[in-house]
Amino acid sequence: MAIPTETVYGLAARIDLPAAIQSIFTLKERPSFDPLIVHIAELEQLKGLVAEWPPLADALASASWPGPLTLVLPKHPSLNPAITSGLETVGVRMPDHPLTLELIRSTGPLAAPSANKFGHTSPTRAEHVQQEFAREIANGDIIVLDGGPSEVGVESTVIRIASNRIEILRPGGVTADQIKARLAAEGLNTEVETPERNDQRSPGHLEHHYMPRKPLVWSLDETSTQTPLDTTAIGRRLGLPAAAKATVIVLNEDPRLAARELYHLFREADCSTADFIIVRLPRSRKDGLWSAITDRLKRAAQLQWPLQRSDHIP
Ligand code: TXA
Ligand code: MG
Repeated sequence: MAIPTETVYGLAARIDLPAAIQSIFTLKERPSFDPLIVHIAELEQLKGLVAEWPPLADALASASWPGPLTLVLPKHPSLNPAITSGLETVGVRMPDHPLTLELIRSTGPLAAPSANKFGHTSPTRAEHVQQEFAREIANGDIIVLDGGPSEVGVESTVIRIASNRIEILRPGGVTADQIKARLAAEGLNTEVETPERNDQRSPGHLEHHYMPRKPLVWSLDETSTQTPLDTTAIGRRLGLPAAAKATVIVLNEDPRLAARELYHLFREADCSTADFIIVRLPRSRKDGLWSAITDRLKRAAQLQWPLQRSDHIP
């Protein structure tokens, strides 16, 4: 079943049904090395999921759940290893969506990756899931629970908690500053390794991910998003014919709005008559949610414009 969450729609299966878990990997064409996040509706559902619940996890969960924060913790021995791709840890979160919370209260924990084919753009509306899995939905293999557009629009922040250190494995809906503020409020002296300093990633968070079907270029124009871009030069650099047409997405200056619309705009551009997509970022970007947005753009893009030094290396 496809379920709405505040971040993106998920393709969910009960953790106690191995055949259903297996079918998620099959339907998504997802490699078995990429572990699934388990979604819960109440803290009691952590029983049988995690082997430890350290005070640090409790502090962060009480500040951010329900919400876009996934905690990676030692897994309970009884949890199906297919869910965690054989890892000794499991990612858990409590999503902030009333329909899905109600569902999980009755089904028990649900393992759910984003409801898209592997490597493709995540869905933030029920109709995106429909586009992505038209055949499987027509066959009755997937049912979609329509909970409206996702509020946050980018995936959850995935963090690993070590003894006195937190590593952000994937930037997302909860910012590093929010995590630090919470730790400070608790009087905890914990180091937070942010993605800029720590290039270690979740197993499935690959260099190419979140991609629309058409080539995407992101442009960090430090002067102004009003400056015209040489779209012909960009098309040529992508190896497209001179007549190739671009569609230009200018992201909102408010990162919450930019994140909410991001994947919908990718999909609209994919459906347009354009041959390639250019995404322009506003000049006034501070950290916070922009880390998650630029992380997704980097992975979704073929190219950054203006060209970076590394793009010139043959
Ligand atoms: O917002 C979200 O997190 C959405 C919604 C549906 O909850 N889910 C989502 O799932 O984005 P998915 O599968 O597309 O991405 C989850 C990522 C995986 O690629 C994996 O890298 C990481 O979370 N992950 C899951 N379990 C992990 C573990 N035990 N250790 C490290 N990373 C893990
Ligand atoms: Mg995904």
